[in-house]
Amino acid sequence: MSKAFGKIILAGEHAVVYGYPAIASTLNLQVCVSVQHSAHPGLKFVNPKIDPEHQSTALFAQILPKLTQLFGNCVAELEFQIDSDLPGGCGLGSSAALSVALIRAILDFIGESRSVKEIASMALELEKIFHGNPSGVDHTVIAQEGLIWFQQGFSERIQAGRPFKLVAAIASPHAGTLAAVQAVRKNYEANQIQVTKLFEEISKLTHAMRTHIEQGNLLELGQLMTRNHELLQNLGVSTDELDTLCLLAKREGALGAKLTGAGGGGCVIALVSDTGSSLLHAYEQAGYRSFVC
Ligand code: PMV
Repeated sequence: MSKAFGKIILAGEHAVVYGYPAIASTLNLQVCVSVQHSAHPGLKFVNPKIDPEHQSTALFAQILPKLTQLFGNCVAELEFQIDSDLPGGCGLGSSAALSVALIRAILDFIGESRSVKEIASMALELEKIFHGNPSGVDHTVIAQEGLIWFQQGFSERIQAGRPFKLVAAIASPHAGTLAAVQAVRKNYEANQIQVTKLFEEISKLTHAMRTHIEQGNLLELGQLMTRNHELLQNLGVSTDELDTLCLLAKREGALGAKLTGAGGGGCVIALVSDTGSSLLHAYEQAGYRSFVC
């Protein structure tokens, strides 16, 4: 059985598509893939929480040919059983985790190993099926694991000066990363000066957030997460529900909160200074699934 964790983006989503940096981290929910020779080859979902968008036959019809291109004709005889803890359509990296887990599973099955970089570059080929032209942050952090800095294909680990705890809450699913990225592109083309200003401010705070993570300045880190959320609101990718979940976090004493991922629905993350149990309780009372990450 091969696995890949999901991910959150701490700073820089959307701006990262335009070459600005992002900070991302893996989280403790995963996609598992097991492979066997079978008379009924193909992809089978055992516990399907994968994004419905990603379950469309049209998209899956493209995955096996891509895997065959990468690994040869042996793929056509294999059955892939896919199990997932990761809710789909929430900005938690379900498609990138599926891509990385599929590649790890085939490598395991054929008894070959590849570097993290090679696995990430194969995963990019699969991610293109789901997301068109992804920045690469999702499959890079998922292949590399841990807390990373990502910019235009370059990535490196960040060492946190002090451990920090986030609470994630899941709102309604978004309409797909591709749709959100295309909406931002339209906005960018219509308002290049204003949107570039937003990206530049996001980039500045992403650099500052890295410093605060490394120095363990959690108060400042939280404030910048909240500021990042405001800039994402200005970019037009937040929703009333995501804003409400961020406000609820602040009311419960979180140091900061933001949407994570493409927006238009999905997930928020809040930085907490305690165990997070009161915020988890508040989200539960409000009817939202939430977890510590
Ligand atoms: O797929 P999501 O929801 O995690 O969003 C990915 C992050 C974006 O910056 C919005 C897109 C990208 O390719 O980086």
